[in-house]
Amino acid sequence: MANYQETYRRSIGRPVEFWAEAAEVIDWERRWDLVLDESRAPFYRWFSGARLNTCWNALDRHVARGRGERVALIWDSPVTGQVVSFTYRELRDRVAELAGVLVGLGVGKGDRVLIYMPMVPEAAMGMLACARIGAVHSVVFGGFAAHELATRINAARPRVVLSASCGIEPSRIVAYKPLLDAAIAEATSKPEHCVILQRPMCRADLIADRDHDWNDLASTARPADCVPVLATDPLYILYTSGTTGIPKGVVRDNGGHAVALYWSLHNIYGVEPDETFWTASDVGWVVGHSYIVYAPLIYGCTTVMYEGKPVGTPDAGAFWRVIEQHDVRVFFTAPTAFRAIKREDPEGQLIRKRDLAKFRALFLAGERADPPTVAWAEQHLGVAVIDHWWQTETGWPIAANCLGIEKLPVKHGSATRAVPGWDVRVLDAEREGEVHELAAGEIGALAVKLPLPPGALPTLWEADDQFVRTYLSTFPGFYQTADAGFIDQDGYIHVMTRTDDIINVAGHRLSTGGIEEVLAAHPDVAECAVIGVADALKGQVPLGLLVLKAGTARSVAEIEREAVALVRERIGPVASFYTALVVAGLPKTRSGKILRGTMRKIADGEPYPMPATIDDPAVLGEVSDALAKAGLANKTAI
Ligand code: COA
Ligand code: AMP
Repeated sequence: MANYQETYRRSIGRPVEFWAEAAEVIDWERRWDLVLDESRAPFYRWFSGARLNTCWNALDRHVARGRGERVALIWDSPVTGQVVSFTYRELRDRVAELAGVLVGLGVGKGDRVLIYMPMVPEAAMGMLACARIGAVHSVVFGGFAAHELATRINAARPRVVLSASCGIEPSRIVAYKPLLDAAIAEATSKPEHCVILQRPMCRADLIADRDHDWNDLASTARPADCVPVLATDPLYILYTSGTTGIPKGVVRDNGGHAVALYWSLHNIYGVEPDETFWTASDVGWVVGHSYIVYAPLIYGCTTVMYEGKPVGTPDAGAFWRVIEQHDVRVFFTAPTAFRAIKREDPEGQLIRKRDLAKFRALFLAGERADPPTVAWAEQHLGVAVIDHWWQTETGWPIAANCLGIEKLPVKHGSATRAVPGWDVRVLDAEREGEVHELAAGEIGALAVKLPLPPGALPTLWEADDQFVRTYLSTFPGFYQTADAGFIDQDGYIHVMTRTDDIINVAGHRLSTGGIEEVLAAHPDVAECAVIGVADALKGQVPLGLLVLKAGTARSVAEIEREAVALVRERIGPVASFYTALVVAGLPKTRSGKILRGTMRKIADGEPYPMPATIDDPAVLGEVSDALAKAGLANKTAI
């Protein structure tokens, strides 16, 4: 087995050689002119001049090599009581058909297709069909409301939308079509066609000329072949929360992405091509893009697509049932899912009911893996439990315990060491504009030295300036992750908190600034602040503090209810925004900055220093009382 230290050293010292070697496993229609093109730095490009097709690499080539009868994808849907498997050949044929549908609707290379779908195999087929014809997909998570969808439609300007009549949450059927119709009505950019998958539990009304029945079109479509694209052409855009209500369109290219994902499945996750790999997430998130769809298929193993929850579908043993039934060897999910399971089955009784002898490793990401949750999983599963750190922007892990290279000792609370390819440093956040590295153990801004490895974002969609401003200008020559933490004396990375206004809610990334924008639009709200408060299940949940306009005579309780409803309507249920509190004023510094950090500490019951620059301590006292009344812990200043 290789050695981590040696592999890492080589990846940083000789990146061109390292990634050229890794790229040999990908099928290229034309090989590259340059492995690393630095001609437009800081816009680095990997494998420039090369041509390939991502869908070919994910499907056709496995069929061409005699592996067509192997299972590519298992759809396991406890919410509908179905389990359906697709071989590589079947999946290739379905994807080619759907690609033909898109071509028939006028979609060509470079056109955008928006995908707003639940966890059904057709969602993955949609992504792969776009890749097949060189179209650029943009998947929007089903838990977002019409307004968020409209924002993404305006930004990506899709020619076609792929959607379904509904999604299924344990408590209700979520009709997607009315949300899609409302989003298109609100959007200024109108898609020409919508292709709707009619699910039997809720059929959608179709609008003549614009909407088409998915199965009707697919049954008559002429299968489309793979269209080679440049390695540097975009494969997808994935919108993620920024520091305002306007999401950022993270771009992924084709070549670097395929190389990095293949490498990661082998070297980080330690998976073999004849094994089953399962990621319980959603195709709407980067985790779903990389590790439900692209990585396992490019690598040639079997992937599981799960339409269900960790608990309640039907119980906290659902994950173990799937692992046993589909012979899952390596499993990836978010810590929040484990907290949900632990709460319902604290003794792990449902785990012991299943034969998990061949299950090898659990990977956790999306939020900090809290040590008690990791310890519980280790104790009850008896397998390696690996916390690993990454972001929508990076596309694959920055820090991990690379099981396929060398398993390093686990330290709870740390995502282990930098993954080969990622030159991670801790920089002094107080000295923006210069690069001042901190010593081991000192907390600072986690940054990655440029160039980023293949697979990381090359830019933001149609926003090169914003890309440089947001990520590359704080520390010259570095990508700033917007996470803070430290690297200890053994080189282990500890990710502690975000440095911006992003909070992590059940592994979902949300901008508190975005929620504030929605609340500020309420007619009775003069001023507001949103903070992320600790939650035993979801890690963090947002809480809104509202100051009403002078003279508002309406009931406070009613306004609080309306504020909660407004966030649900504008952003969606995924925000988990359940508490808004009206307060007399917001605590501020003398220069007018709202003391969000201090309020968060009060809400979490942490001791806090009275800020030296506070304008009026009495206002903070009142907020503290309001939080206590709402059941949130109340601590006095130290
Ligand atoms: N479509 C529509 N609504 C959705 C949705 C979707 N795809 N996904 C979630 N929602 C809704 C939920 O029904 C819920 O609505 P409610 O406010 O009416 O109850 C709301 O959005 C919040 O959902 P969620 O945060 O998922 O909370 P939950 O209480 O339903 O479930 C967990 C809690 C922990 C079980 C769940 O969050 C979970 O499985 N998390 C794993 C997260 C994950 O995989 N993250 C990906 C990163 S790796
Ligand atoms: P997303 O872009 O939605 O994947 O969210 C990325 C953010 O989630 C990161 O910037 C971190 O703040 C957080 N995150 C992801 N994985 C971890 C981890 N293993 N430990 C700590 N934070 C994490």
